[in-house]
Amino acid sequence: MKAGSLYKKIQALGSEQQAWLLGNDTDDALRHGFDRKRVVHPGQGGTPIAPHQRLPVWNDLLLHKKEIAPRAVYIHIPFCSSKCLYCGFFQNISQTELIDRYTAALIKEISYDADKIGVQSQPINAVYFGGGTPSALSCDNIRDLLGAVKTMLPLAADCELTFESRIHDLTDEKIAACLAGGINRFSIGIQSFNTQVRKSIGRIDSRGVIQERLQKIAALNQAAVVIDLMYGLPYQTASIWEDDIMTQFDSGIHGGDMYQLNVFENSELKQAMLKGKIPASMSTSEQALLFAKAIEIVKHKPAVHRLSICHWSVNSRERNVYNYLSKSGCDILPYGSGAGGALSGYSAMNERDLTAYLQRINSGEKSIAFVMRQAEGSAFDYAVSSQMDRGYMDGYEVKKRWGIDHVELLEPLLREWQRRGLVEIDGSVVTMTIAGQFWYVNLTQAALDCLSMLRSERPQQIKQEAIAAQG
Ligand SMILES: C[S@@+](CC[C@H](N)C(=O)[O-])C[C@H]1O[C@@H](n2cnc3c(N)ncnc32)[C@H](O)[C@@H]1O
Ligand code: SF4
Repeated sequence: MKAGSLYKKIQALGSEQQAWLLGNDTDDALRHGFDRKRVVHPGQGGTPIAPHQRLPVWNDLLLHKKEIAPRAVYIHIPFCSSKCLYCGFFQNISQTELIDRYTAALIKEISYDADKIGVQSQPINAVYFGGGTPSALSCDNIRDLLGAVKTMLPLAADCELTFESRIHDLTDEKIAACLAGGINRFSIGIQSFNTQVRKSIGRIDSRGVIQERLQKIAALNQAAVVIDLMYGLPYQTASIWEDDIMTQFDSGIHGGDMYQLNVFENSELKQAMLKGKIPASMSTSEQALLFAKAIEIVKHKPAVHRLSICHWSVNSRERNVYNYLSKSGCDILPYGSGAGGALSGYSAMNERDLTAYLQRINSGEKSIAFVMRQAEGSAFDYAVSSQMDRGYMDGYEVKKRWGIDHVELLEPLLREWQRRGLVEIDGSVVTMTIAGQFWYVNLTQAALDCLSMLRSERPQQIKQEAIAAQG
């Protein structure tokens, strides 16, 4: 890879493609740095493995001893008691008997790989029960599943075990079952504390109920309590968003995430907006102002530490291990319908269709539905993108590990970002401005695209996803 050639390669692109990499020439980079968000998750893709080879390839990866490196497990619970209008993660409505069968299948799936050297040769540093809604499981399901995880998987002594939940079905009994089984972190989707905002997107409980529950769970003093907030929701004015940010700090929680609302083209939210049932979504430039407001508030709270651009801790209870590991490209063993994972340079996805998943597990095999060999240079790309997820680039650190300084390689791109007010450059360290942080997904995808252009002679393909255009 040669630094000098990047300038020529960018110059050879059409003006629209150049704008996706460099951003817009504007003196208001926060609101207009790019036309819109380009992708939901930055990445480079790879080479799909042929259907008949998927399971053999995955099983083979598990037959090899793993290097000393942090690892994680992802366990997917694809059930929700109701569907939220904005959500792209919904799979199945909760049904007790089906969830019981699913839990039994999950335990079988874990047992299929449990004795393999690829699973047992290194400790697991984080287990994430995600969804959907793990709090849709019954107390018995929780006890059985956590029992299986603890007995069959080599958990590190300080393993972070997260249980994603929503307040509505996280009862006292379920919390007790989680804590008894070893859960030490609850990640709870709140989205907004404002009752009108919540109802408009299909959330059930009112502000009073969620505040009381959050305080109670945090006061147990047994596990980290972290919440998700979203900005750009219908009816969520700037003052409601300010109140959302402030209220979380009064709720006793240990950490928080904030997500920019993505309005997916085929979502119920988009349909409701088109039919005029709820107000049209906020523009991206309006969302940018909400992002900047949140950062401003957090800046004036010295106890709050930003662990990444969109995630903070309020005290040392929140470590954010799983999210950090998954962004750094470590191995993740996936279990459950629709679960995604990665192993030794390959990514995989289990059957998303519940019937197909149950059939395959009950016929005695892992339900891998898709395997892809990650693109050339993906380990290096993860080193770059995990720094950018935290708002910076440190060429010196990357060079120590990889022998290549990405800041040097990407210099023509970074100089343009600096001119547009998206980053500041200090030698081999690049720091994103507030504007750069708001657009960090576009910046990260652009950096990965440029690294890929430097590796290849082929023309660049600009990745785009179906997020509604928000002017
Ligand atoms: C996989 S969801 C599970 C959350 C949990 N089931 C709940 O409802 O609280 C995790 C988080 O993704 C975020 N999310 C879901 N849909 C989103 C969208 N369209 N745009 C941005 N964030 C979204 C929400 O903040 C949500 O809490
Ligand atoms: S936000 Fe949570 S509860 Fe709502 S549909 Fe998505 S996964 Fe289900």
